[in-house]
Amino acid sequence: MAEVGKNGEYVLGEVIYDASNRCWVLQMEASTYCFGLNHGDSSLQHIYWGPYIDSIAASEMAYLAESISIPFESPTGLSREEYAPWGEMRYSEPSLKVEYADGTRVIEWTFEEHGVVRSEVSQTLWLRFRDRAYPLTVTLYYRIFTGHDVIERWARLENTGGSGPVTIEQALSADWRPPRRERYRLTYLYGQHVKEMQIAAAILSPGKIVLESRRGATSHQFNPWMALDPDASALEESGEVWSAALAWSGSWKIVVETTTYGDVHCTGGVNDFDFQYRLDEGARLDLPAFVGLYSNQGFGGVSRSWHAYQREHLLPEPPEAVRPVLYNSWEAVAFDVNERNQMELAEKAAELGTEVFVVDDGWFDARDHDYAGLGDWTVDPKKFPHGLNPLITRVNALGMRFGLWVEPEMVNPDSKLYRAHPDWVYHFRQRSRTEGRNQLVLNLAREDVRDWVCETLDTLLSEHNIEFIKWDMNRYVSEPGWPDDAERNPERVWLDHVRNLYWIIDELRRRHPHVAFESCAGGGGRVDLGILSRVEQVWPSDNTDALDRLLIQEGFSYAYTPRVMMCWVTDCPNFLTKRTVPLSYRFHVAMSGSLGIGGDIARWTPQELEEARGFIARYKQVRSTIQNGLLYRLHSPRKGHVAAAQYVTRDGSEVVVFVWGHSQQFGETQVTLALNGLKGDALFADAISGSTYSSAYLTHHGLPMNLVGDFDSCMVHLIRQMPAR
Ligand code: GLA
Repeated sequence: MAEVGKNGEYVLGEVIYDASNRCWVLQMEASTYCFGLNHGDSSLQHIYWGPYIDSIAASEMAYLAESISIPFESPTGLSREEYAPWGEMRYSEPSLKVEYADGTRVIEWTFEEHGVVRSEVSQTLWLRFRDRAYPLTVTLYYRIFTGHDVIERWARLENTGGSGPVTIEQALSADWRPPRRERYRLTYLYGQHVKEMQIAAAILSPGKIVLESRRGATSHQFNPWMALDPDASALEESGEVWSAALAWSGSWKIVVETTTYGDVHCTGGVNDFDFQYRLDEGARLDLPAFVGLYSNQGFGGVSRSWHAYQREHLLPEPPEAVRPVLYNSWEAVAFDVNERNQMELAEKAAELGTEVFVVDDGWFDARDHDYAGLGDWTVDPKKFPHGLNPLITRVNALGMRFGLWVEPEMVNPDSKLYRAHPDWVYHFRQRSRTEGRNQLVLNLAREDVRDWVCETLDTLLSEHNIEFIKWDMNRYVSEPGWPDDAERNPERVWLDHVRNLYWIIDELRRRHPHVAFESCAGGGGRVDLGILSRVEQVWPSDNTDALDRLLIQEGFSYAYTPRVMMCWVTDCPNFLTKRTVPLSYRFHVAMSGSLGIGGDIARWTPQELEEARGFIARYKQVRSTIQNGLLYRLHSPRKGHVAAAQYVTRDGSEVVVFVWGHSQQFGETQVTLALNGLKGDALFADAISGSTYSSAYLTHHGLPMNLVGDFDSCMVHLIRQMPAR
């Protein structure tokens, strides 16, 4: 950590401590974050978060920070705290509330020490506070990354012993505070099954908006991501936006509170609903990260920052250069998988250029429908008389990796597992066990269940050459009881289920490092920064209708990189919407993320197969730009009847543009797309038509495109012809 020199000069680093003003300055790529201690060391005050300013200016703000005084309030209660433990006269949403063994229910803490942990790519500042009378320490963490504007924040709670257990009633991870402005707009993502990641916005007025899941998983209903912009002033490519997202795949909450004094703050983490966590002497609890970033380049700038952070620092290491093209027969044959039809589909998939062949639901004992089988993870001998290995061998011989669907947290009451262990599911005594999709949720908080799940999957992976796992979760938690644990702390299941889920995936990844994972929960029910740190990709929605997908994918791209967004081309009429659109349109929509094929290719005509082969070959030429490049959303599918997106490699050498027209009107066929993010003065050639364009033309005039009729679409691949002058 750089400190201020004797003469007041700053020794520049990325984390700076100014001892005279007792404040810390985080200097990032294009933004600055600053906070400091109050007099008395009893609270940490937020000072600045916004565009880059020099560190002297940041600590000058610390010096000038005024406190306001209002009757019926205390200076602490009114102050802009980085993390507020409940106590004193604090009446807005706190970040931490505990009860000590003797019944004391407020915290009075004082600052103890700080330090910085450096790695090659990041610096983590930690600040430790200690309760003045009880053995609780709270350590706040701030991690920043070279070349990024992202701050990962989380907290560690530790019972240092001597006064019995500490009961944690609310433990959020961080409190974010955009600067004081007239009023803010909140943008967030909501939805439902087959309608995930819809974009909503609300102008904030005094009061709280709570975005949350009480379902035990991230949820389709709200995604733990949000953005704030002052006076609804941000546009797609301009304006200031503050954004935050949670790295947690269980019940979560984000409280966006506007005080009556006009302050906006936003605290978030594990949901405290029905929650209690007993922290025994000597125990500690690490809370999940609540990650934030600032951009003055509008929602597009915010998205690109999220994407870059996910690709470079969040997703599992080591990343493959690009995600492979995948085939999955769920929409084609549903539970009716068998050696014969999967072999046939594998041959076709390989001819198309597919690289991973995934067998979805239905491959295990008694799984002819969704009433039975979950929990009994042995291969169904009726469908696969020789086990899965002959199919896997064939798939490998065809040059593809083999993938398998599992839903390890679940059990059907009609299963050997449930008959043997009816106590392994969440339940309360004398209460119903509510079934969702005819299944119950295993109590993964139990160590024996956790170990059983891990060993069962380990056996599956050890006995087969499986290189891809689609991990599904097709219902949420209900009746979250654990009667045998009544003496201890049954409410901790909300936390421990997710921690053990993470533990299992981490352990399987350690034992089988060549296996890639996809997170699925009935489509996009478990997409968040927590799961993304341990899976290569996610299934955003069971809705594969190309037009609907444009809207789901747009919302998805606000928060998450197209690299992880699996998109299948499926059959028409679409099973859900009954809509029929051309194969080219379906391909162009799916190619704007990580491409997969989910149609019944055994029934595709030779012309369709030929067309598909061409699209897949083309996708392979452009996928690195799409998956690893910078995304510019040129036209939103929510506005007008044409949508468009552009991807640029980080060095600016290649550009891919998609345009999708849904319904043509008035005979207007011409669309001109002004491109974005092209560096310098260069010449670009269209890889398909050979036409050349200058970057000035593409930026200021626009790329002309022609769309004829309904559901026409087009992809353009531009390659820079000469280096920027
Ligand atoms: C969920 C998934 C689908 C498919 C089915 C199988 O709905 O989202 O993709 O795997 O389960 O039952």
